[in-house]
Parts: sequence; C-alpha cells; structure tokens
Amino acid sequence: MNFKLKTLLLACAAAATLGAGTQAFSQAAFPDKPVSLVVPFAAGGPTDVVARMIAIPMSKALGQTVLVENTVGAGGTIAATRVARAAPNGYTLFIHHMGMATAPALYRKLSFDPLKDFEYIGQVVDVPMTLLARKDFPAANFSELQTYLKTNGKNVSLANAGLGAVSHLCGLLFMSQIGVELNTIPYKGTGPAMNDLLGGQVDLLCDQTTQTVPLIKDGRVKVYGVTSLNRLSALPDVPTLNEQGLKGFEVKVWHGMYAPKGTPAPVLEKINAALRAAMQDPMVKQRLAELSSDIPPMEKISPAGLKTHLEAEITKWAPVIKKAGIYAD
Ligand code: MLT
Repeated sequence: MNFKLKTLLLACAAAATLGAGTQAFSQAAFPDKPVSLVVPFAAGGPTDVVARMIAIPMSKALGQTVLVENTVGAGGTIAATRVARAAPNGYTLFIHHMGMATAPALYRKLSFDPLKDFEYIGQVVDVPMTLLARKDFPAANFSELQTYLKTNGKNVSLANAGLGAVSHLCGLLFMSQIGVELNTIPYKGTGPAMNDLLGGQVDLLCDQTTQTVPLIKDGRVKVYGVTSLNRLSALPDVPTLNEQGLKGFEVKVWHGMYAPKGTPAPVLEKINAALRAAMQDPMVKQRLAELSSDIPPMEKISPAGLKTHLEAEITKWAPVIKKAGIYAD
C-alpha cells in the first residue's frame, strides 16, 4: 500500500471512530435541551390536555422541559408530516390518537406513512367520548334528541375537529345509526369547537371525556350519552348510547407517542422510560381516573405494544372507511 493511500485510510478510520464517539456521546447526553411534543390539534382540546398532563412528569424524568407544540389542521396529518420529516434525534416527539390508523384510508394522498416514517414509543391513554349539546338545546334527553333531529336534521349543526378526527368519526357513526344527516362544521380541534358549543354557536359535539367531564359536571353543556358500552365512573348518571337504543355504539380513543424514523434506540429507550414514569405518576393516574380515561397495561406502553396495535387498527379501519366511501382529499 502506498503512503498516500495508507494515510487516507488511517484518516478515514480516525474520522469514523470520532464520528461514532460523538454520536455515542450525544446519545448519552440526551436530552441536553428542551424536547418538543407535537400535538396535532388545537390547544385546550383533549389531545392537548393529555399532552400537557404527561409533559410535566416526563420533563422531570428526562431532566429537560417537554414543550407542547400545537401543529393543527387536516385531521392531524399536517402535524404527522412535520414530525415524519423532523430530525431523528429525540427532540421532536408526537402524540396522536387513532387518527394515525384511519389516515391511510381517509387520505388518498398522504404525505407520510404511519408504518414506515416513525419510531414507536408506546401507547398512552384510552379515552371514551360523550355526545353533547349546547346548554339550551331544545331536546331534554336522548329520546327527544332523536325525535328533534328527525324533523330538524339539516338545520342542526354538529361540530368536529376536521376530517379524520375522532369527533368526526363519532359524528359519522351517530348520524348513520340514527339515519339522519346533520350540518357538520369542522374546526382545528375540539378545543375551539367546545368554545363555540359553550357560546351557543353550534348545537352538538361528540368529544372525549378528557375535555368534557368537568364541563358536564359543572352543567355547562347538555349530555345525552357516553360512547362506552358500560357507564363511566366519572359520570355514573349518564347512560350509554348503547343502552339507549344505539346497539353496539362504542368509541374509545386510543393514543400513542411517536418519534421520527431513525431516532437512535438509546434515545428511544430514555423517552419510553420517561413516558412509563409519567403514566405511573400519582397525579396523572388520579387525574385520568377522574376523567374516566384508562392507562394501558405497561406492556402496551412500549414500542412493540404501540406498533402491533397501530398495525391492527390500520387493518381494522381500512375496509370500514373504504366501504363507507369517505375520503378527506
Ligand atoms: C382534539 O384534541 O382536538 C381532538 O382529539 C380532536 C378529535 O376530535 O379528534
């Protein structure tokens, strides 16, 4: 080997060792600055509530602030695209609900692939929904609501958080089961949709208990039913939609935490450990119980637990959405 070639090879080897060392060092130091947790819906809504609740114990576990950032629009797909394209270094994380599984069927031109563009950190929380109306809406109970909607359907507004949001899916299910089409109004999250329900600008909204329980308890909205098959401990007097005649009506919203594809395994392990710590935090546990939201078993708060669930949910929703012929684009 000539001298020049040997020098070049040695220099390359040194650079490679140095590179690996730097990478190992930066992974060991992770996180050495604040971490962003991207929420795909507006501030104040249910996803945002969960993100801000767990950001506090996650910050404690990571030793760095976890900053919640809202990137809204297109049923969560704008935020998912942003995270899929972010640097895979652990500083951009993503929390999303089952919209991650319905998006591939709902959006024919999706600019991310939930199964190829992300690393999986773990499942987060399972949340039931409630069917609500503005406080002064004429129907006093669910039976009166059905009668009222049958004659006034098109004049009644039903808010949602955009195509592919769970409020949208819940509303579609409700309309198809009662056989009435309502005037649907999209928002950038059920946070702003709820503001308009409270202000009387829209009539109905199907939304998660992480936002709705305190408002129902304070009598600020009218509630017609819960979307779980059994009554909720937080709202024992509120009947299920199933028991009021909508047989099998069940919507439970699962959530997961993701990072961009290629985020190093040691970094993912630290984030997963922080998520697990957050889900065992006494304050988080108590608050979620008050909101009738379930913490998944520990084995599901894991990369494999989330990935397996996401794959199964994509397979479950694709034929349902195709059959219904609903497309967001
Ligand atoms: C939100 O956080 O605004 C909701 O989760 C949106 C939705 O209904 O999917």
